[in-house]
Amino acid sequence: MDFRLTEEQALIQKSARDFAQKEVAPKARELDAEGRWPTELVARMAELGFLGIAVPDELGGGGADHVSYALAMIEVSKACASTGVIMSVNNSLVCDPLWKFADDAQKKEFLAPLAAGEQLGCFGLTEPASGSDASNMDTVAVRDGGDWVINGSKNWITNGPHADVILVFCCTDRSKGAKGTTAFIVPKGTKGFNPQPRDHKLGIHAAHSCTIFFEDCRVPDAWRLGNEGDGFKIAMSTLDGGRIGIASQAIGIAEAAYEKAVAYAKERKAFGEPIANKQAIQFKIADMAMQLDAAKVLTLRAAWLKDQAVKDKGVRHTSESAMAKLYASEIATHVTHQALQIFGGYGYSTEYDMERHYRDARITEIYEGTSEIMRVVISASALRG
Ligand code: CAA
Repeated sequence: MDFRLTEEQALIQKSARDFAQKEVAPKARELDAEGRWPTELVARMAELGFLGIAVPDELGGGGADHVSYALAMIEVSKACASTGVIMSVNNSLVCDPLWKFADDAQKKEFLAPLAAGEQLGCFGLTEPASGSDASNMDTVAVRDGGDWVINGSKNWITNGPHADVILVFCCTDRSKGAKGTTAFIVPKGTKGFNPQPRDHKLGIHAAHSCTIFFEDCRVPDAWRLGNEGDGFKIAMSTLDGGRIGIASQAIGIAEAAYEKAVAYAKERKAFGEPIANKQAIQFKIADMAMQLDAAKVLTLRAAWLKDQAVKDKGVRHTSESAMAKLYASEIATHVTHQALQIFGGYGYSTEYDMERHYRDARITEIYEGTSEIMRVVISASALRG
Protein backbone atom coordinates (compact mmCIF):
# COMPACT_ATOMS: atom_id res chain seq x y z
CA MET A 1 0.00 0.00 0.00
CA ASP A 2 1.37 3.39 -1.02
CA PHE A 3 -0.25 6.54 0.39
CA ARG A 4 1.91 8.92 -1.66
CA LEU A 5 0.31 10.88 -4.47
CA THR A 6 1.57 10.40 -8.00
CA GLU A 7 3.30 13.33 -9.68
CA GLU A 8 0.16 14.10 -11.69
CA GLN A 9 -2.11 13.93 -8.64
CA ALA A 10 0.19 16.27 -6.69
CA LEU A 11 0.28 18.68 -9.65
CA ILE A 12 -3.51 18.81 -9.97
CA GLN A 13 -3.83 19.27 -6.21
CA LYS A 14 -1.39 22.18 -6.34
CA SER A 15 -3.06 23.81 -9.31
CA ALA A 16 -6.47 23.49 -7.59
CA ARG A 17 -5.03 24.91 -4.36
CA ASP A 18 -3.48 27.90 -6.15
CA PHE A 19 -6.71 28.62 -8.02
CA ALA A 20 -8.83 28.16 -4.89
CA GLN A 21 -6.72 30.29 -2.57
CA LYS A 22 -5.87 33.07 -5.03
CA GLU A 23 -9.08 33.37 -7.04
CA VAL A 24 -11.93 31.68 -5.18
CA ALA A 25 -11.35 32.32 -1.45
CA PRO A 26 -11.21 36.13 -1.74
CA LYS A 27 -14.69 36.14 -3.29
CA ALA A 28 -16.39 33.42 -1.26
CA ARG A 29 -17.94 35.60 1.44
CA GLU A 30 -19.34 38.08 -1.06
CA LEU A 31 -20.73 35.29 -3.29
CA ASP A 32 -22.46 33.82 -0.25
CA ALA A 33 -23.81 37.11 1.08
CA GLU A 34 -25.21 38.13 -2.31
CA GLY A 35 -26.20 34.65 -3.45
CA ARG A 36 -24.35 35.46 -6.66
CA TRP A 37 -23.68 32.72 -9.22
CA PRO A 38 -19.87 32.71 -9.78
CA THR A 39 -19.88 33.09 -13.58
CA GLU A 40 -16.20 34.10 -13.73
CA LEU A 41 -15.08 31.18 -11.51
CA VAL A 42 -17.04 28.65 -13.58
CA ALA A 43 -15.28 30.06 -16.68
CA ARG A 44 -11.88 29.74 -14.95
CA MET A 45 -12.65 26.15 -13.92
CA ALA A 46 -13.38 25.41 -17.59
CA GLU A 47 -10.00 26.90 -18.59
CA LEU A 48 -8.23 24.85 -15.93
CA GLY A 49 -9.91 21.64 -17.08
CA PHE A 50 -11.73 21.22 -13.75
CA LEU A 51 -15.19 20.63 -15.20
CA GLY A 52 -14.40 17.26 -16.77
CA ILE A 53 -11.28 16.19 -14.88
CA ALA A 54 -11.61 12.43 -15.31
CA VAL A 55 -13.01 12.40 -18.86
CA PRO A 56 -10.39 11.29 -21.41
CA ASP A 57 -8.60 14.10 -23.33
CA GLU A 58 -9.94 12.96 -26.68
CA LEU A 59 -13.48 13.53 -25.38
CA GLY A 60 -12.72 17.06 -24.23
CA GLY A 61 -11.82 16.26 -20.60
CA GLY A 62 -8.74 16.51 -18.41
CA GLY A 63 -7.71 12.86 -18.75
CA ALA A 64 -6.83 12.59 -15.05
CA ASP A 65 -7.98 10.02 -12.48
CA HIS A 66 -10.69 10.18 -9.81
CA VAL A 67 -8.18 10.57 -6.99
CA SER A 68 -7.08 13.82 -8.68
CA TYR A 69 -10.71 14.81 -9.00
CA ALA A 70 -11.31 14.26 -5.26
CA LEU A 71 -8.16 16.22 -4.37
CA ALA A 72 -9.20 19.13 -6.59
CA MET A 73 -12.73 19.07 -5.15
CA ILE A 74 -11.33 19.31 -1.59
CA GLU A 75 -9.27 22.39 -2.51
CA VAL A 76 -12.03 24.24 -4.35
CA SER A 77 -14.63 23.46 -1.67
CA LYS A 78 -12.24 24.58 1.06
CA ALA A 79 -12.33 28.03 -0.51
CA CYS A 80 -16.01 28.03 -1.51
CA ALA A 81 -18.42 25.13 -1.06
CA SER A 82 -20.81 26.59 -3.65
CA THR A 83 -18.14 26.62 -6.35
CA GLY A 84 -17.24 23.08 -5.25
CA VAL A 85 -20.70 21.66 -5.79
CA ILE A 86 -21.12 23.36 -9.18
CA MET A 87 -17.90 21.57 -10.16
CA SER A 88 -18.95 18.22 -8.69
CA VAL A 89 -22.35 18.14 -10.40
CA ASN A 90 -20.82 18.71 -13.83
CA ASN A 91 -18.02 16.17 -13.26
CA SER A 92 -19.72 13.38 -11.33
CA LEU A 93 -23.38 13.62 -12.17
CA VAL A 94 -23.28 14.59 -15.83
CA CYS A 95 -19.91 13.95 -17.51
CA ASP A 96 -19.33 10.62 -15.76
CA PRO A 97 -22.61 8.90 -16.82
CA LEU A 98 -22.27 10.31 -20.35
CA TRP A 99 -18.77 8.90 -20.57
CA LYS A 100 -19.96 5.51 -19.30
CA PHE A 101 -23.32 5.16 -21.04
CA ALA A 102 -23.55 7.53 -24.05
CA ASP A 103 -23.14 6.32 -27.63
CA ASP A 104 -20.51 7.90 -29.89
CA ALA A 105 -22.87 10.49 -31.37
CA GLN A 106 -24.08 11.54 -27.89
CA LYS A 107 -20.49 11.75 -26.65
CA LYS A 108 -19.63 14.07 -29.52
CA GLU A 109 -22.75 16.22 -29.25
CA PHE A 110 -23.17 16.40 -25.46
CA LEU A 111 -20.16 15.09 -23.54
CA ALA A 112 -17.37 16.93 -25.37
CA PRO A 113 -18.69 20.49 -24.68
CA LEU A 114 -19.62 19.56 -21.08
CA ALA A 115 -16.22 18.03 -20.31
CA ALA A 116 -14.45 21.04 -21.83
CA GLY A 117 -16.59 23.36 -19.70
CA GLU A 118 -18.09 25.07 -22.76
CA GLN A 119 -21.44 23.95 -21.40
CA LEU A 120 -22.72 23.13 -17.93
CA GLY A 121 -24.92 20.23 -16.94
CA CYS A 122 -27.39 19.29 -14.22
CA PHE A 123 -28.90 16.03 -12.95
CA GLY A 124 -32.66 15.57 -12.66
CA LEU A 125 -33.59 12.71 -10.35
CA THR A 126 -35.26 14.26 -7.26
CA GLU A 127 -38.92 15.26 -7.40
CA PRO A 128 -41.23 17.14 -5.03
CA ALA A 129 -42.69 13.83 -3.76
CA SER A 130 -39.66 11.52 -4.11
CA GLY A 131 -36.19 12.25 -2.78
CA SER A 132 -34.85 9.23 -0.91
CA ASP A 133 -37.36 6.90 -2.59
CA ALA A 134 -35.85 7.83 -5.92
CA SER A 135 -37.35 5.12 -8.13
CA ASN A 136 -40.88 6.11 -7.15
CA MET A 137 -41.01 9.06 -9.55
CA ASP A 138 -43.99 10.85 -11.08
CA THR A 139 -42.22 12.27 -14.14
CA VAL A 140 -43.14 10.19 -17.18
CA ALA A 141 -41.81 9.81 -20.70
CA VAL A 142 -44.26 8.35 -23.20
CA ARG A 143 -43.20 7.07 -26.60
CA ASP A 144 -44.76 8.83 -29.58
CA GLY A 145 -43.43 7.51 -32.89
CA GLY A 146 -39.68 8.12 -32.92
CA ASP A 147 -39.92 10.60 -30.05
CA TRP A 148 -40.64 10.64 -26.34
CA VAL A 149 -42.89 13.17 -24.60
CA ILE A 150 -41.82 14.08 -21.06
CA ASN A 151 -44.19 15.47 -18.42
CA GLY A 152 -43.49 16.11 -14.74
CA SER A 153 -41.20 18.10 -12.49
CA LYS A 154 -37.80 17.76 -10.87
CA ASN A 155 -36.73 19.84 -7.88
CA TRP A 156 -33.64 20.96 -5.95
CA ILE A 157 -31.74 20.70 -9.23
CA THR A 158 -28.27 22.09 -8.53
CA ASN A 159 -26.97 24.16 -11.51
CA GLY A 160 -30.55 24.06 -12.86
CA PRO A 161 -31.02 27.78 -13.52
CA HIS A 162 -27.75 27.98 -15.52
CA ALA A 163 -27.41 24.54 -17.07
CA ASP A 164 -27.24 23.98 -20.82
CA VAL A 165 -28.17 20.32 -20.50
CA ILE A 166 -30.10 18.15 -18.05
CA LEU A 167 -29.77 14.42 -17.57
CA VAL A 168 -33.32 13.56 -16.56
CA PHE A 169 -34.76 10.30 -15.24
CA CYS A 170 -38.32 9.38 -16.20
CA CYS A 171 -40.75 6.56 -15.60
CA THR A 172 -41.37 4.80 -18.93
CA ASP A 173 -43.14 1.71 -17.56
CA ARG A 174 -44.85 1.99 -14.19
CA SER A 175 -45.50 -1.77 -13.98
CA LYS A 176 -41.76 -2.52 -13.83
CA GLY A 177 -40.83 -0.40 -10.76
CA ALA A 178 -37.16 0.66 -10.77
CA LYS A 179 -36.67 -1.26 -14.03
CA GLY A 180 -39.25 0.99 -15.71
CA THR A 181 -36.99 4.06 -15.50
CA THR A 182 -35.25 5.56 -18.52
CA ALA A 183 -32.69 8.40 -18.75
CA PHE A 184 -32.72 11.21 -21.31
CA ILE A 185 -30.34 14.03 -22.17
CA VAL A 186 -32.31 17.23 -22.77
CA PRO A 187 -30.64 20.45 -23.90
CA LYS A 188 -31.83 23.88 -22.73
CA GLY A 189 -34.14 25.51 -25.23
CA THR A 190 -36.07 22.30 -25.93
CA LYS A 191 -39.74 23.30 -25.96
CA GLY A 192 -41.42 22.29 -22.71
CA PHE A 193 -38.19 22.24 -20.64
CA ASN A 194 -38.89 25.05 -18.21
CA PRO A 195 -36.45 25.90 -15.37
CA GLN A 196 -37.99 28.01 -12.59
CA PRO A 197 -36.40 30.80 -10.48
CA ARG A 198 -33.70 29.71 -8.04
CA ASP A 199 -34.37 28.24 -4.60
CA HIS A 200 -33.45 30.03 -1.37
CA LYS A 201 -31.50 27.84 1.07
CA LEU A 202 -29.66 27.77 4.40
CA GLY A 203 -26.22 27.51 2.78
CA ILE A 204 -24.27 27.13 -0.50
CA HIS A 205 -25.98 30.37 -1.56
CA ALA A 206 -23.92 30.84 -4.72
CA ALA A 207 -24.73 27.37 -6.10
CA HIS A 208 -28.16 27.94 -7.55
CA SER A 209 -30.74 25.18 -7.66
CA CYS A 210 -34.30 25.24 -8.95
CA THR A 211 -37.39 23.27 -9.90
CA ILE A 212 -37.65 22.28 -13.56
CA PHE A 213 -41.03 21.64 -15.18
CA PHE A 214 -41.36 19.35 -18.18
CA GLU A 215 -44.53 20.23 -20.07
CA ASP A 216 -45.11 18.08 -23.17
CA CYS A 217 -41.38 18.21 -23.72
CA ARG A 218 -40.74 16.26 -26.93
CA VAL A 219 -37.30 14.66 -27.34
CA PRO A 220 -35.99 12.33 -30.05
CA ASP A 221 -35.09 8.74 -29.17
CA ALA A 222 -31.49 9.70 -30.05
CA TRP A 223 -31.37 11.61 -26.74
CA ARG A 224 -32.16 8.51 -24.67
CA LEU A 225 -29.14 7.56 -22.52
CA GLY A 226 -28.62 3.81 -22.28
CA ASN A 227 -31.32 1.23 -22.80
CA GLU A 228 -34.96 1.67 -22.02
CA GLY A 229 -35.41 0.54 -18.39
CA ASP A 230 -31.76 1.07 -17.42
CA GLY A 231 -32.30 4.58 -16.02
CA PHE A 232 -32.37 3.66 -12.33
CA LYS A 233 -29.12 1.69 -12.52
CA ILE A 234 -27.54 4.59 -14.41
CA ALA A 235 -28.72 6.98 -11.68
CA MET A 236 -27.46 4.75 -8.84
CA SER A 237 -24.07 4.02 -10.36
CA THR A 238 -23.71 7.74 -11.12
CA LEU A 239 -24.38 8.52 -7.45
CA ASP A 240 -21.66 6.02 -6.47
CA GLY A 241 -19.30 8.53 -8.07
CA GLY A 242 -21.22 11.64 -7.00
CA ARG A 243 -20.94 10.67 -3.35
CA ILE A 244 -17.14 10.79 -3.66
CA GLY A 245 -17.50 14.37 -4.90
CA ILE A 246 -19.74 15.34 -1.96
CA ALA A 247 -17.45 13.59 0.54
CA SER A 248 -14.61 15.70 -0.89
CA GLN A 249 -16.72 18.84 -0.65
CA ALA A 250 -17.47 18.05 3.02
CA ILE A 251 -13.76 17.52 3.73
CA GLY A 252 -12.93 20.86 2.10
CA ILE A 253 -15.50 22.70 4.23
CA ALA A 254 -14.34 20.95 7.43
CA GLU A 255 -10.67 21.54 6.70
CA ALA A 256 -11.25 25.26 6.14
CA ALA A 257 -13.07 25.56 9.48
CA TYR A 258 -10.46 23.44 11.28
CA GLU A 259 -7.45 25.43 10.03
CA LYS A 260 -9.09 28.74 10.95
CA ALA A 261 -9.99 27.42 14.42
CA VAL A 262 -6.41 26.20 15.06
CA ALA A 263 -4.94 29.56 14.01
CA TYR A 264 -7.46 31.43 16.18
CA ALA A 265 -6.82 29.19 19.21
CA LYS A 266 -3.13 30.08 19.05
CA GLU A 267 -3.85 33.82 18.90
CA ARG A 268 -6.81 34.30 21.18
CA LYS A 269 -5.94 34.79 24.84
CA ALA A 270 -8.12 33.98 27.84
CA PHE A 271 -7.15 33.79 31.51
CA GLY A 272 -3.70 35.12 30.60
CA GLU A 273 -2.72 32.63 27.88
CA PRO A 274 -3.66 31.46 24.37
CA ILE A 275 -6.76 29.28 24.51
CA ALA A 276 -4.74 26.64 22.59
CA ASN A 277 -3.01 25.94 25.93
CA LYS A 278 -6.30 24.76 27.43
CA GLN A 279 -7.01 21.07 27.33
CA ALA A 280 -10.68 21.76 26.53
CA ILE A 281 -9.54 23.29 23.23
CA GLN A 282 -6.75 20.76 22.63
CA PHE A 283 -9.18 17.85 22.86
CA LYS A 284 -11.47 19.47 20.31
CA ILE A 285 -8.50 19.97 17.97
CA ALA A 286 -7.39 16.36 18.40
CA ASP A 287 -10.83 15.03 17.50
CA MET A 288 -11.16 17.33 14.51
CA ALA A 289 -7.69 16.40 13.18
CA MET A 290 -8.38 12.67 13.53
CA GLN A 291 -11.83 12.89 11.94
CA LEU A 292 -10.52 14.87 8.99
CA ASP A 293 -7.76 12.35 8.38
CA ALA A 294 -10.14 9.40 8.60
CA ALA A 295 -12.55 11.09 6.17
CA LYS A 296 -9.71 11.65 3.71
CA VAL A 297 -8.62 8.02 3.89
CA LEU A 298 -12.17 6.77 3.26
CA THR A 299 -12.75 9.23 0.43
CA LEU A 300 -9.48 8.69 -1.38
CA ARG A 301 -9.97 4.92 -1.06
CA ALA A 302 -13.38 5.24 -2.74
CA ALA A 303 -11.86 7.44 -5.48
CA TRP A 304 -9.07 4.92 -5.98
CA LEU A 305 -11.65 2.13 -6.27
CA LYS A 306 -13.54 4.18 -8.86
CA ASP A 307 -10.31 4.34 -10.84
CA GLN A 308 -10.04 0.54 -10.60
CA ALA A 309 -13.64 0.31 -11.86
CA VAL A 310 -12.66 2.27 -15.00
CA LYS A 311 -10.18 -0.51 -15.84
CA ASP A 312 -12.25 -3.42 -14.54
CA LYS A 313 -16.03 -3.13 -14.94
CA GLY A 314 -16.51 -5.81 -12.27
CA VAL A 315 -15.30 -3.49 -9.49
CA ARG A 316 -18.12 -1.92 -7.43
CA HIS A 317 -17.56 0.83 -4.86
CA THR A 318 -21.16 1.48 -3.81
CA SER A 319 -20.59 0.77 -0.12
CA GLU A 320 -17.16 2.46 0.03
CA SER A 321 -18.54 5.63 -1.59
CA ALA A 322 -21.48 5.63 0.82
CA MET A 323 -19.11 5.22 3.80
CA ALA A 324 -16.95 8.10 2.57
CA LYS A 325 -19.96 10.37 2.02
CA LEU A 326 -21.64 9.44 5.31
CA TYR A 327 -18.54 9.84 7.43
CA ALA A 328 -17.17 12.98 5.73
CA SER A 329 -20.52 14.78 5.85
CA GLU A 330 -21.20 13.90 9.50
CA ILE A 331 -17.72 14.96 10.60
CA ALA A 332 -18.07 18.18 8.55
CA THR A 333 -21.16 19.01 10.62
CA HIS A 334 -19.25 18.17 13.81
CA VAL A 335 -15.97 19.89 12.88
CA THR A 336 -17.65 23.12 11.79
CA HIS A 337 -19.71 23.07 15.01
CA GLN A 338 -16.58 22.67 17.17
CA ALA A 339 -14.58 25.19 15.15
CA LEU A 340 -17.37 27.75 15.58
CA GLN A 341 -17.38 26.99 19.31
CA ILE A 342 -13.65 27.75 19.49
CA PHE A 343 -14.31 31.07 17.70
CA GLY A 344 -17.01 31.92 20.26
CA GLY A 345 -19.06 35.02 19.41
CA TYR A 346 -16.84 35.81 16.40
CA GLY A 347 -17.81 32.47 14.93
CA TYR A 348 -21.46 33.52 15.01
CA SER A 349 -20.76 36.79 13.20
CA THR A 350 -21.19 37.25 9.45
CA GLU A 351 -17.94 39.29 9.56
CA TYR A 352 -16.04 35.97 9.56
CA ASP A 353 -16.15 32.81 7.44
CA MET A 354 -17.01 30.42 10.23
CA GLU A 355 -20.80 30.76 10.15
CA ARG A 356 -20.69 30.16 6.35
CA HIS A 357 -18.71 26.94 6.79
CA TYR A 358 -21.19 25.87 9.50
CA ARG A 359 -24.19 26.49 7.22
CA ASP A 360 -22.53 25.02 4.11
CA ALA A 361 -21.60 21.77 5.88
CA ARG A 362 -25.23 20.92 6.62
CA ILE A 363 -26.30 20.14 3.06
CA THR A 364 -23.62 17.48 2.66
CA GLU A 365 -25.66 15.22 4.96
CA ILE A 366 -28.72 15.67 2.75
CA TYR A 367 -28.00 15.81 -0.96
CA GLU A 368 -26.82 12.87 -3.11
CA GLY A 369 -28.38 10.58 -0.49
CA THR A 370 -29.11 11.48 3.13
CA SER A 371 -27.08 10.03 6.01
CA GLU A 372 -29.99 7.66 6.62
CA ILE A 373 -29.92 6.40 3.02
CA MET A 374 -26.12 5.99 3.24
CA ARG A 375 -26.70 3.68 6.23
CA VAL A 376 -29.31 1.75 4.19
CA VAL A 377 -26.77 1.30 1.37
CA ILE A 378 -23.91 0.27 3.68
CA SER A 379 -25.98 -2.16 5.73
CA ALA A 380 -27.50 -3.74 2.58
CA SER A 381 -23.99 -4.48 1.35
CA ALA A 382 -22.78 -5.70 4.77
CA LEU A 383 -25.74 -8.05 5.16
CA ARG A 384 -25.32 -9.39 1.61
CA GLY A 385 -21.77 -10.27 2.60
N1 CAA B 1 -25.19 0.53 -9.01
C1 CAA B 1 -25.84 -0.25 -9.94
N2 CAA B 1 -27.08 -0.74 -9.74
C2 CAA B 1 -27.69 -0.46 -8.57
C3 CAA B 1 -27.09 0.32 -7.58
C4 CAA B 1 -25.78 0.82 -7.83
N3 CAA B 1 -25.15 1.57 -6.92
N4 CAA B 1 -27.93 0.44 -6.53
C5 CAA B 1 -29.04 -0.25 -6.84
N5 CAA B 1 -28.88 -0.79 -8.09
C6 CAA B 1 -29.83 -1.65 -8.79
C7 CAA B 1 -30.16 -2.87 -7.93
O1 CAA B 1 -29.21 -3.89 -8.12
C8 CAA B 1 -31.54 -3.25 -8.43
O2 CAA B 1 -31.44 -3.96 -9.64
P1 CAA B 1 -31.72 -5.56 -9.68
O3 CAA B 1 -33.15 -5.72 -9.23
O4 CAA B 1 -31.47 -5.94 -11.11
O5 CAA B 1 -30.75 -6.17 -8.71
C9 CAA B 1 -32.17 -1.90 -8.77
O6 CAA B 1 -31.08 -0.96 -8.95
C10 CAA B 1 -33.07 -1.39 -7.68
O7 CAA B 1 -32.32 -1.33 -6.49
P2 CAA B 1 -32.97 -1.27 -5.04
O8 CAA B 1 -34.00 -2.35 -4.94
O9 CAA B 1 -31.88 -1.24 -4.03
O10 CAA B 1 -33.72 0.14 -5.11
P3 CAA B 1 -34.59 0.93 -4.05
O11 CAA B 1 -35.76 1.49 -4.73
O12 CAA B 1 -34.79 0.09 -2.82
O13 CAA B 1 -33.64 2.20 -3.69
C11 CAA B 1 -31.95 3.42 -2.56
C12 CAA B 1 -32.43 2.09 -3.15
C13 CAA B 1 -30.53 3.15 -2.12
C14 CAA B 1 -32.77 3.88 -1.36
C15 CAA B 1 -31.96 4.53 -3.65
O14 CAA B 1 -33.28 4.89 -4.01
C16 CAA B 1 -31.21 5.78 -3.26
O15 CAA B 1 -29.97 5.83 -3.37
N6 CAA B 1 -31.92 6.87 -2.83
C17 CAA B 1 -31.31 8.14 -2.61
C18 CAA B 1 -31.42 9.00 -3.84
C19 CAA B 1 -30.37 10.07 -3.93
O16 CAA B 1 -29.23 9.88 -3.55
N7 CAA B 1 -30.73 11.20 -4.52
C20 CAA B 1 -29.81 12.24 -4.77
C21 CAA B 1 -30.31 13.14 -5.83
S1 CAA B 1 -29.08 13.96 -6.75
C22 CAA B 1 -28.54 15.26 -5.84
O17 CAA B 1 -28.79 15.35 -4.67
C23 CAA B 1 -27.66 16.21 -6.57
C24 CAA B 1 -27.38 17.51 -5.90
O18 CAA B 1 -28.26 18.21 -5.43
C25 CAA B 1 -26.03 18.00 -5.85
